[in-house]
Amino acid sequence: MNQLYRRAVLKLAGQPKLRGLLERRGMDWGVRRFVAGRSLPEAAEQISRLNASGLLATLDFLGESVRDREQVEQTCMMIVRMLDDIRQRGLQANISLKLSQLGLLFDESLCLGHMELIVERARSYGQFIRIDMEDSSLTVPTLSIFERLLRAYGPETVGVVIQSYLRRSPEDVDRLTGLGANLRIVKGAYREPAQIAFPDKRDVDAAYLELVRSALDRGTYTAVATHDTRIIREVICYASEHGIARDRFELQMLYGIAGSLQTQLAAEGYRVRVYTPFGEQWYPYFSRRIAERPANLWFVLKGLMRS
Ligand code: FDA
Repeated sequence: MNQLYRRAVLKLAGQPKLRGLLERRGMDWGVRRFVAGRSLPEAAEQISRLNASGLLATLDFLGESVRDREQVEQTCMMIVRMLDDIRQRGLQANISLKLSQLGLLFDESLCLGHMELIVERARSYGQFIRIDMEDSSLTVPTLSIFERLLRAYGPETVGVVIQSYLRRSPEDVDRLTGLGANLRIVKGAYREPAQIAFPDKRDVDAAYLELVRSALDRGTYTAVATHDTRIIREVICYASEHGIARDRFELQMLYGIAGSLQTQLAAEGYRVRVYTPFGEQWYPYFSRRIAERPANLWFVLKGLMRS
């Protein structure tokens, strides 16, 4: 049922008419719960607030599947500005980005060039860039660019995301941890065919735990990104039973989701990082959040009825 709902929402969200309507009015209908603002100063203010309650952040300038060179250039400049801003304001935050914002869909070498510029700046500031993982058509080029950057700049400057729903992920984790990579493990948020991804949520959850354990066992820094309380508790238990120190991993959650769990875990002494997106291009990100949980659809519908 969950999977059916998820697939249906992701399919519906792709309809141009619905997209147009939601893009015009969505900010009034509940998008603000998941998006930290339209502009960088608004997002920076939210991050200061998170930092004050003991939470770290990863700042994300919303946007994906960009096919326009000028927009790609502007995105690259914005990400560099974000690095400067984080430093100037003394925020406890790093950056997450998607390679399809930076030209991956039409020019891989342009994308690599932009990433080198960004990662170079990040390294000069002692900062860290996380490459998000997108749909399965981009897994191979994303990992290939990531591996080049990893070899050049090291795991303290650049990391990537692995999705537990993908059947290929155990091999990727094996290879990447062998290179010392800093991995964020997620369940996966896109609509994928069964040949590529597990259709049954129980398999995705079981694979998730396996991947996290194997990354922790290999000794690489691991970001455990989920709101699944059972899995979080199991990971914490596994780490303490296997002598894995708290500074070898962090817990990550999304802005606007499970806020009290975030602060509770931070109060227990765990490193907790909140994925904090901002910008005008919120629609695909927001659709994935609606697809993850039927209650979120009601939340939007209530906003719609109030307006
Ligand atoms: P699951 O879906 O099993 O949910 C567990 C519980 O969490 C639910 O019962 C509910 O209580 C709560 N919950 C989950 N989603 C919610 C929502 N939208 N609203 C309210 N409550 C919700 N994916 C990807 O493909 N590429 C990526 O790069 C990333 N990056 C990323 C970064 C971070 C920090 C996080 C936390 C997640 C991602 N994701 C991602 C998304 C990820 O793949 C996944 O879709 C979501 O995290 C939801 O799955 P859970 O792991 O929370 O488990």
